[in-house]
Amino acid sequence: MPRLEVEGVGEFDVEEGKRLVLAIEQDAGVDILHRCGAYAKCTTCRIEYLEGEPERMTRAELEVLESRDLLGQARLSCQTVCDRDMKVRPLMTVSSTGLDGPGPEPQPEITPEPEWVEKPS
Ligand code: FES
Repeated sequence: MPRLEVEGVGEFDVEEGKRLVLAIEQDAGVDILHRCGAYAKCTTCRIEYLEGEPERMTRAELEVLESRDLLGQARLSCQTVCDRDMKVRPLMTVSSTGLDGPGPEPQPEITPEPEWVEKPS
């Protein structure tokens, strides 16, 4: 079982292969945003990896991070799964932004259908 540490919150054993955005929300109890419903459009599920950053990303993540000038600064928790131990820092939450809710419930699987590419260095 991968171990997820959320900075300032705690450490949690999470189901192998669980979407990271859902693990942060459901296992760690953090009110992380996913305003587009976890379709790699809004970037509000953004996190920083403090440990365990994956070397691959979905093409959808790469394209939206590039278009928002976020490449190298943030990753999208809706575009990856818990397949290793990791430590993360959520960057946008309901409580930190004052928005009216996190957004539509994410599907259990990565959406859109992932096409994996190497993370640019
Ligand atoms: S980009 Fe919108 S929830 Fe991840």
